[in-house]
Amino acid sequence: MSGILVHPEAVIGDDFKPAPFAVIDERVRVGNNVTVGSFVHIHPDVSLGDGCIIGDNVTIHEGASLGAGCVVSDCAVLGKRPKLGKKSTAKGGELPGLVLGDGCSVGSHTVLMAGTTFGSDCIVGDGAGVRERCVIGDNVVVGRAVTVENDTTIGSRTKIQSGAYITAYVTLEEDVFIAPMVVTTNDNYMGRTQERFDHLRGCIVRRGARIGGGVHVLPELEIGEEAFIATGAVVTRDVPPKALMMGVPAKQVRDVPDEQLLENQ
Ligand SMILES: CC(C)(COP(=O)(O)OP(=O)(O)OC[C@H]1O[C@@H](n2cnc3c(N)ncnc32)[C@H](O)[C@@H]1OP(=O)(O)O)[C@@H](O)C(=O)NCCC(=O)NCCS
Repeated sequence: MSGILVHPEAVIGDDFKPAPFAVIDERVRVGNNVTVGSFVHIHPDVSLGDGCIIGDNVTIHEGASLGAGCVVSDCAVLGKRPKLGKKSTAKGGELPGLVLGDGCSVGSHTVLMAGTTFGSDCIVGDGAGVRERCVIGDNVVVGRAVTVENDTTIGSRTKIQSGAYITAYVTLEEDVFIAPMVVTTNDNYMGRTQERFDHLRGCIVRRGARIGGGVHVLPELEIGEEAFIATGAVVTRDVPPKALMMGVPAKQVRDVPDEQLLENQ
């Protein structure tokens, strides 16, 4: 096939299947049986594990590492470095490359930033964005058009459904369920005063908690293990474990029934 630019310092495995107009920079390491689409640019020091499939028009930025069997759909941008605004509350500085564990699947038009690590077998839906320095476990689902802001931690098997907004400095523990269009917040000062920097904290959602469609969660709160927040609620106070909360502001109406607890699934 013609029109492929492979730098002489790139190391390419067996059974490489590139489409025309791919560009592979210096010190890239490509495993065995890798497929790369048209108009793909793989920047220096990227590593692609065995069996990776990269779609058309994908850019993989410097230093990113994709484990074996990752699938990246068309027009995704992986390992992008952020350009921060002058008043951004996010930390600046150098970032290591993006890391995707084995078997991850990345949808089209997604943007995953440098300095973030995904465990194995994660799924990122089309049009989702995950910012820098996030730490994401195994088997996590980040749904279509979800935004995950910087410095967020997401535990294994957690699912975030379409359109949800996970703000910076949030922790979602393992087996958390975030329904579509949930909004989390981290700044009660809404960008004003110096004092706000001491309070800039997202929520902590403990293991197995479930947050229903369109719920809003105020900054700094803790949502207890296995709690259930009913759709449309606004959470303004910490939530006890296993509490079923409803309304605006959210109030506990009962406990989550035993048959819904993780240990009984
Ligand atoms: C909690 C939930 C299961 C309903 O619980 P429920 O106790 O079975 O609710 P019921 O239908 O029996 O209604 C009980 C009362 O609460 C009200 N109610 C029900 N859900 C409510 C909600 N989310 N917010 C405010 N009030 C609600 C009902 O109007 C009813 O009021 P009434 O007694 O004055 O008539 C439901 O609100 C919910 O959040 N489901 C989750 C949906 C979701 O987000 N799924 C995510 C994947 S898509």
